Amino acid sequence: MLATAEATPNIAFVKYWGKRDEKLILPTNPSISATMDFQLRTRTSVLFSKTFSKDEIIVHNKRLAGAELLQATKALDHLRSLGKTRLKARVVSLNCFPTAAGLASSAAGFAALAVAGAAALGLKLSQKELSITARLGSGSASRSVVGGFAEWKAGAKKDGSDSYAVQLAPPTHWPEFRNVIAIVEAGEKKVKSRAGMAETVATSSLFTQRLRDLPKTLETIRKAVLRRDTSSLFPAMMRESDNMHAVMLDTWPPITYLDDVSKQIISAVLELNGSEPVAGYTFDAGPNAHIFTTERNVLAVKRVLLEIPGVKRMIVAGVGDGPRLLSRPADALMGEDGGVRLARYDQETDQIQISH
Ligand code: PMV
Repeated sequence: MLATAEATPNIAFVKYWGKRDEKLILPTNPSISATMDFQLRTRTSVLFSKTFSKDEIIVHNKRLAGAELLQATKALDHLRSLGKTRLKARVVSLNCFPTAAGLASSAAGFAALAVAGAAALGLKLSQKELSITARLGSGSASRSVVGGFAEWKAGAKKDGSDSYAVQLAPPTHWPEFRNVIAIVEAGEKKVKSRAGMAETVATSSLFTQRLRDLPKTLETIRKAVLRRDTSSLFPAMMRESDNMHAVMLDTWPPITYLDDVSKQIISAVLELNGSEPVAGYTFDAGPNAHIFTTERNVLAVKRVLLEIPGVKRMIVAGVGDGPRLLSRPADALMGEDGGVRLARYDQETDQIQISH
């Protein structure tokens, strides 16, 4: 059966940076995130068929190969073992992000693959199983599957069966919560997160201290989210982002994802906050800033960002529900026979144009 799903990225307040198992993608620590709304989304169609002799994954018109293909195959293998089948799959995926966003997200891609893949095999999986499937493709994807505010439990078992995300709260918990995304630069990141994390675990002594401090940070941030307490969430979120980037810099060879513009954004947000925090920044493996705030302070944040010449574009996102299945055959990125359709995302209309 052919199935299509869309999913969105998530941004972590408590970061995942470090694995205890490289193969199964098991993290050294739990993490907490907010899933973004459908302005930034990835659409993925999956078809399992006996006519396929191998798995084939096409992301943005490019066939995956090597390590990337291998990782995606692990998620498919997990679905095959749940569905007790050996059928090979074709996966076609398209990122619907504004160009130059530099936000291409493996989290959205693998969350969509898990949901579409399960549906393509006729499996009714729990959120836990979907989260584990997505995790096998990319760690942060485990959080995008559940939507809303999510916590990925690190788990302790060797087989990873207790390492999956749960929803802490749905988007309706905090309708006025916003992420002002400041796009600083497009392009591929210099060090891939997979390689960077492994180097941090192997070389950084600050990382050991980070792991000791994290339980307290997790508790503070979890409570702040549940109580919608911006005065404790924003400072804790900024310190946690700074801590991850400090550990990256303590890695050998050092990893730097922040650039001068990111640093200007940090100063500007701190200045805007004064003694009463109205916003909190967080950065992932790149220079783009995610500045969380509430609806009534979005303009103030935008105004401050407008004064920084290196900020190329801003997107204001709310919290999203998580993946959705698209049932109309016309929305699929391939035909029932596996024929790949020509598709492109049109930024002006925010529509995917598919040639049938
Ligand atoms: O799942 P990956 O390999 O894309 O790792 C993402 C790690 C960070 O984005 C830097 C932090 C996080 O928790 O999302």
